[in-house]
Amino acid sequence: MLHIALAKGRISEQVIAFLEAAGIHFPEYNETSRKLIFVDDTDSFKITLVKSPDVPVYVERGAADVGVVGKDILEEHSYSLYEICDLGVGRCRMAVAGIKGRFLPTGRRLVVGTKYPAIARKYYASLGERVDIVPLNGSVELAPLVGLSDVIVDIVESGNTLRENGLEALTFFMDLSARLIVNKGAFRFKRKAIDRIIACTKGGTEDGMD
Ligand code: PRP
Repeated sequence: MLHIALAKGRISEQVIAFLEAAGIHFPEYNETSRKLIFVDDTDSFKITLVKSPDVPVYVERGAADVGVVGKDILEEHSYSLYEICDLGVGRCRMAVAGIKGRFLPTGRRLVVGTKYPAIARKYYASLGERVDIVPLNGSVELAPLVGLSDVIVDIVESGNTLRENGLEALTFFMDLSARLIVNKGAFRFKRKAIDRIIACTKGGTEDGMD
């Protein structure tokens, strides 16, 4: 059985739709269920739904053979696994954002609130700027509003979260999308099943991989 770890939410819904369209059915799956494990009707594929930062952890350690996760997670940490392809779903961008119309401070270091400290640090280092990073776990848009930071570095998809909280994107600096990742051992020993998943998720044939 091939074990597939999916980032819970937008990505998992899209990937399960790809698999269903390609004839791999998960009879117990529905978007509102609290269940976390689903097996297909031929007992060949098992899906587990996990928090997105945990997907590469599962795959690297062999708790899952294959995973689908946003490129943001793969950029934030380094993992020993194969990144096979861009699935073209879950497209969004990494941005610096701040309170709409507000000037940034001068004469002191910029304070940056983010769920992505490594990405933010690397971005500002590439500009030759030293900043103070405030690591956060979510609802990052709050940080400038409550005086925790001057700006945020976060992903922007529709832009609704920024707009509805009175923020605006100042710079977009990284394009992101969902990636198929594979455990190194599984890539050697479960190649046939993995090729089938690659074909399904890319909408291609089952003859092989790129
Ligand atoms: C992400 C991101 C933004 C939002 C962007 O948060 O951190 O808050 O989505 O999407 P939008 O541009 O379409 O509004 P997520 O939904 O993962 O929740 P979180 O804040 O709890 O991390």
